[in-house]
Amino acid sequence: MALWGGRFSQAADTKFKLFNDSLKFDYRLAEQDIIGSIAWSKALLSVDVLNADEQKSIEVSLNELLVSVQENPEQVLQSDAEDIHSWVEGQLINKVGDLGKKLHTGRSRNDQVATDLKLWCKKTAQELIVHLDGLESKLIELARIHQGVILPGYTHLQRAQPVTFSHWCLAYLEMLERDHSRLEGCIERMNTCPLGSGALAGTAYEMDRTALAHSLGFERATRNSLDSVSDRDHVVELMSCATLSMVHLSRMAEDLIFYNSGESAFIEMSDLVTSGSSLMPQKKNPDAMELIRGKSGRVFGSLAGMLMTLKALPLAYNKDMQEDKEGLFDALDTWGDCLSMAAMALTDLKVNEERTKEAAQGGYSNATELADYLVAKGIPFREAHHIVGVAVVAAIEKGVPLEDLTVAEFKVFSEVIEDDVYPILTLEATLAARKALGGVSPTQIEYALTSAEERLASR
Ligand code: ARG
Repeated sequence: MALWGGRFSQAADTKFKLFNDSLKFDYRLAEQDIIGSIAWSKALLSVDVLNADEQKSIEVSLNELLVSVQENPEQVLQSDAEDIHSWVEGQLINKVGDLGKKLHTGRSRNDQVATDLKLWCKKTAQELIVHLDGLESKLIELARIHQGVILPGYTHLQRAQPVTFSHWCLAYLEMLERDHSRLEGCIERMNTCPLGSGALAGTAYEMDRTALAHSLGFERATRNSLDSVSDRDHVVELMSCATLSMVHLSRMAEDLIFYNSGESAFIEMSDLVTSGSSLMPQKKNPDAMELIRGKSGRVFGSLAGMLMTLKALPLAYNKDMQEDKEGLFDALDTWGDCLSMAAMALTDLKVNEERTKEAAQGGYSNATELADYLVAKGIPFREAHHIVGVAVVAAIEKGVPLEDLTVAEFKVFSEVIEDDVYPILTLEATLAARKALGGVSPTQIEYALTSAEERLASR
């Protein structure tokens, strides 16, 4: 049964119906629509549209429907109802007869869908917080396990200076903690209830919208009915959070793909998250990571699509806004999947400590140490930088690392170099020197790890 037959003398074209109907995707709002409808029936009781018996009977039937939908959400898809709102109302009328037709008094699908979607966003955002927490804890765990593992640090994908595997883990933890706080911010801002805004101008039944908002778990009611039915900021904000977090996950994936490559062989990804080649028996491909990297694209695309849809839409509700759901559902599903897949991939990761150390040793990544050594002997940094550059060229020509040059060879570049240079050129000394806040010295890593553990424990 359509909700709006009276003005029409002809049924809609079948193709138009297919084009227009949203049940095939908004069925995911069934629970929220039922919960919102129960709250609305109570609001109708408060303004004497329903008497207590009528409200009770509607509430009981809607609760039965809720249980049935929770047991079998796909049942909704069997119907040819236009959307989830028509479906819920139709089911109620089937159960309680004409009484069910009173439920939509003073309500519009415009404030109804806005409420349903916000309830869904709030619930899903909480689930995503749990996913984020999971990956954050994994990174801390991994950082603890591999605290002493030295890793080459890169800029321009050239070995730059040694870091540690823990430092790498904690870098991604920083990004995820920012994602976390952005998501918390979204949750805070979307905590306002649009129900009772009617189609656009407010409901004509003078009810306590604040109480209605509280009964649905919102902090307060929205303030302006035009904005209430046309606001989709929370959709855009959640997709933006997903997008930026997917940027982070895709960078992490890319690092791990590189570390897992035959050329680096820094890590080995578990059989649980890799696949083989149908032709080449030797292959073990980092599919989970490649999919995370690849799936970031569709999340960015959904955000861009949503922004395009909303841009220049006149107030208030327009059917364009029905396009908010598929992209949102897909973006948040994808983000959640990627967060949990990344956590799984990190769980069983093997780090090849000898290989990472060997790689960190090469690539003249102690050149900055030599420059700092010259600075300590009174040479201005810019000059020291030049001297070391020349020394690196000479070492490359000789085919040896800097620390293999003799003191006599060093003296060609600078008279001040003595054999006290060798201890400062070791990996350990290079790391230990970086003991200012945020650096890679063992004491800083320990401090960073402990404080990260405390932050997570105090949530
Ligand atoms: N299916 C619609 C949507 O998702 C529900 C709101 C319909 N409102 C209307 N005035 N046609 O946006």
